[in-house]
Amino acid sequence: MSFNIAIDGPAGAGKSTIAKKIAAELSFIYVDTGAMYRAMGLLFLRKGIDSKDAAAIEAAAREADVTIGYENGEQQVYLNGENVTASLRTEEAGNMASATSIYPGVRRQLTALQKELAARQNVVMDGRDIGTAVLPDAQLKIYLTASSHVRAVRRYEELKAKGVDSDLSVIEADIIARDQRDMTREISPLCKAADAVEVDSSELTIDEVVETVRKLYQERTGASV
Ligand code: DC
Repeated sequence: MSFNIAIDGPAGAGKSTIAKKIAAELSFIYVDTGAMYRAMGLLFLRKGIDSKDAAAIEAAAREADVTIGYENGEQQVYLNGENVTASLRTEEAGNMASATSIYPGVRRQLTALQKELAARQNVVMDGRDIGTAVLPDAQLKIYLTASSHVRAVRRYEELKAKGVDSDLSVIEADIIARDQRDMTREISPLCKAADAVEVDSSELTIDEVVETVRKLYQERTGASV
């Protein structure tokens, strides 16, 4: 049986950074489920579908084939055979993913793929509903949070490092709106699983969060990493 680590939390809490590092240490596969929702979001954007048009979204999702693969250890996402990985990390794709991840057809298709990946191999999977809905039997569940202000500052610095000028207050408002949508949607809203360990990364460095997760893994397995 595979060993699965679920990491859930709001946008910008550092899930993917932590998940990637832990996966590399343990030689587990890292699965970024947000990227799958973003690939669907990209499809709807390309087709010019309104995120509120439930029928059109469900119909387009049925025709969509989202798959993942790995190149040099990095997850690649394919949309109908095209590698769209480089187009997924935009605010536009993130917001469309958040707005359209409320639809059952979209979630059903992507969670099926996620469950299948985790059944086959040891994974560190991050997202919003991994510990609660996708992998309820995951052996280790982390709920990673940070204040909206800290998350906005991190995003601002990330954009600045890329030479992109942005407005911190707009980023923070966007983060709060996204949290609100992700936490209040009807199906699989973002919430902490009852058996998840909450880690607040607001005042922690990346290495300190990794160390916390490493210790929890060691406690669960008795293994030394
Ligand atoms: O983690 P991210 O920012 O790449 O995710 C983009 C959106 O996708 C997020 O706002 C909500 C949705 N999502 C989801 O509903 N369930 C997941 N397991 C992962 C992401």
